[in-house]
Amino acid sequence: MADQQRPGGFARRVADIEPFRVVEVLARATALAASGRDIVHMAAGEPDFATAAPIVEAGRAALARGETYYTQAAGIPQLREALSAYYAQQYGLDISPRRIMVTPGASGALLLISALLMNPGDGMLMTDPGYPCNRHFLRLVEGRGQLVPVGADTNYQLSAELVAANWQDNTIGVLVASPANPTGTVLDRDALSALAAEVRSRQGYLVVDEIYHGLAYAVETPSVLELDPDAFVINSFSKYFGMTGWRLGWLVAPEAAVDEMEKLAQNLFISQSTMAQHAALAGFEAATRDILDERREIFRQRRDFLLPAVQELGFKVPSPPQGAFYIYADASRFTTDSQAFCMQLLEEHGVALTPGLDFGHHLSARHIRFSYTTGMERLELAVERLAGVLR
Ligand SMILES: Cc1ncc(COP(=O)(O)O)c(C=O)c1O
Repeated sequence: MADQQRPGGFARRVADIEPFRVVEVLARATALAASGRDIVHMAAGEPDFATAAPIVEAGRAALARGETYYTQAAGIPQLREALSAYYAQQYGLDISPRRIMVTPGASGALLLISALLMNPGDGMLMTDPGYPCNRHFLRLVEGRGQLVPVGADTNYQLSAELVAANWQDNTIGVLVASPANPTGTVLDRDALSALAAEVRSRQGYLVVDEIYHGLAYAVETPSVLELDPDAFVINSFSKYFGMTGWRLGWLVAPEAAVDEMEKLAQNLFISQSTMAQHAALAGFEAATRDILDERREIFRQRRDFLLPAVQELGFKVPSPPQGAFYIYADASRFTTDSQAFCMQLLEEHGVALTPGLDFGHHLSARHIRFSYTTGMERLELAVERLAGVLR
């Protein structure tokens, strides 16, 4: 094998896929905690709450009944129907269960959609900063994430104007998340509608990652399907439903894509976790929804505490987060090396944060992400520790 063709002896795509920098922070945080240090964990991108008891119980019951076999590739019919009913209830949408496919997390949905849409060399516009795996999924299928720097002027989202200005000959569509990771910002109805119209006018695909729906605070989060029935939607049981470790998500595809999508799912996954699918059914029961909605309220309280607190410390947050559980903060006053800054805050002050470098290239060395995925007392302690060093 010619080595230039195979950096490190492996396929070229591997060299283009960047690791999560936060892993270094998390590994060090774990080591420090094991050595007896008290670490406030604000780096993780998952709810701190364990999966709600009725969901766990439904999973247990499924195992006890012997639900241990493969299911249909697109998911068990009951779950696809429950999701269809969820779209009717949440958004007033009539989505046929046939268009809904259960996937191994939003990650599995991203992989299927990337495989369905991309030819080698094709590109998709996406925000910088943004969720890093998106561009890596595209790279995996020999496509390209075309990163568009965004800031407070567009609420850290792609606008119709940015799409028009950045569309290239090889661009086939747009992939956005609302609410977004790492910024928590939301595309409101007008912005989403304008974005959809711009993409449609270019015969492009619109993919919207709605994984943080259900975790928005005092703002409306319209589904793109209310505005563009041909869009692709990615969603998951990980965040609002609090099931990260169960690895279950879903996608909604236009009718014309359903058969091809199912073929891909059969080949790539055979089926999704059977136990997790039966467990997830309990997520739609009223008693479970009450638990999940209470948790949303707790996240909102944490955000309402943490946002002014980090601003007071000297971080800038020009677009306040409207959902998810993150604050993406401009740390320019303190650093131009977010990775070193995060390591220093961890080593010397016991606070674990995520460096902006994980979310792209645009000003990322000057930004950090706070996750409010720990209890209020711990957040207060983190702010106290940071105040001690930064003020
Ligand atoms: C924006 C976004 N999309 C997708 C994912 C993947 O989620 P999962 O595969 O757990 O559903 C995440 C996880 O943090 C995310 O933040």
